[in-house]
This record gives sequence, structure tokens and C-alpha cells, in this order.
Amino acid sequence: MNPTEIFAHRGASGYAPENTIPAFELAHRQGADGIELDVQMTKDGEVVVLHDETIDRVSTGRGPVREYTLKELRQFSFHNGMETYAGGVKIPTLAEVLRLARPWEMQVNIELKTGIYWYPGLEKKTAEIVRNEGMEKQVLYSSFNHYSIREIQRLIPGAQTAYLFSDVALDMPGYARYYGVDGLHPSLSQMQMPGFLEEYKKSGLDLRVWTVNREEDLEMLFLAGVTAVITNVPDVAVKVRRESGRKK
Ligand code: G3P
Ligand code: CA
Repeated sequence: MNPTEIFAHRGASGYAPENTIPAFELAHRQGADGIELDVQMTKDGEVVVLHDETIDRVSTGRGPVREYTLKELRQFSFHNGMETYAGGVKIPTLAEVLRLARPWEMQVNIELKTGIYWYPGLEKKTAEIVRNEGMEKQVLYSSFNHYSIREIQRLIPGAQTAYLFSDVALDMPGYARYYGVDGLHPSLSQMQMPGFLEEYKKSGLDLRVWTVNREEDLEMLFLAGVTAVITNVPDVAVKVRRESGRKK
């Protein structure tokens, strides 16, 4: 059984501002195998790394990201209320993060944030950026919007894909297999309900669980041998994985 991989959720977001360069650098230093990030689109069509559709929660600005150009967004600090970073942290573009991660040989899970506002052409632009940065082999795509995943499959045959979901659906493995999707990304809460972890494991699909921060939950999933955990605290996950005997 391959050891469970550790993906840093929005970077090492337990310690550094989520979805920013410092958070991704810290994830690498802490020994994560991969990073998870969210993409949205600006008014001028730039693909940026940000979780929410608005910039209010994590930045010094206000309003929907799609109403700002990249240049305008760069005027705000995205330090997410973390005083250590209050000097200013810029919103990164997807290209900048991929350029950073390429030499680390880390996997990058790009989550297409098209579940609330479906940015026209986000899938195509994202695919182009990944290709331009030579990151096809390091990237896997996920989304709660499964039409976005279908579009990625159309644009990049052979791309690694996964369905994100948080609700309890009937036969997710059968559904994913029917549409040729490689992996399931369920929430931790579903993995704590009886039967689902076993069912998803048995399917043979990649199984990456989010967002797993507590030591006991990490240990349970390492022992179960899931493909990956997605966590805000990669250092804790690395320690628990070592202690559970499932070391890399
Ligand atoms: O990709 C896993 C997880 O990030 C999905 O939820 O809201 O944190 O993007 P969210
Ligand atoms: Ca995400």
C-alpha cells in the first residue's frame, strides 16, 4: 500500500495567509507532498488564487474579485488578518504559484471555483496556464461543479481529475467511474459516517479527504490508507504519518 500523501489546503493555511506564496512556501518546508489551491478569475481575465468569490474575508479590500483587474487587486493585502503578514501579501496568479511549485516537484491540486459563480472560460484559461508552465504532469483538477471537470476532460484528455462533494450522494464511485473521473474528494464528515470510507476505498479510485487537521482523524485516515489527506497543518500531518508507521 502506498503511503498516504499530504496536501496542504490553501497552502499551510493554519500558519500563513491562505492561498498566498508564503503559505505555499511554508507547505513545502513542512514536507507536504502537494498543495491544494482555489482559482477564480479577475475582470481582465487573469486566473488568480483565491477561495471566495469576494475579496472581503482575506484582504484589505471589498467586493467581488471579478469586478477588479489584477492590477487593482495587487493594491490590497491578502494577509487574512494575520498580523505577522500585515506588511502586505499580494494575491498570486495561478502561473506564479505553478512556477514556484515546479522545481519542488510537488503535486498541485487546482480547485476550479465555479460552484457559486461560473466564470466563462475559466477551465480553458486554467488549462492553458498549466500547459504554458509545463505542469501537466504535476497538476490534478477538482471542482464541486462537475461540469467544470467534464470541460477539463474535454480540453486535456488524460488530465487527472476528481469530484469534490460534501453531501451524501448515492453511488459516488459508480458516478465517477461512469464519467471517467479518477478520484473522489469527500469531506471528512462523510468519512466518519459508517460504510463510506470502505466503499470508496474498495472502488480503487483516488481518495483524498478534506479538511483533516486533528491528529486522531489524520491517524485514522493514514491507517485506512487513503490516497491523500488535505490539511491546513502539514507539519502535524507529517508527524502523525511518521508515528503511524505509514512514513514515506
Ligand atoms: O479541495 C478540498 C477543499 O478545499 C474544498 O473545500 O471550501 O475549502 O475549497 P473548500
Ligand atoms: Ca479548495
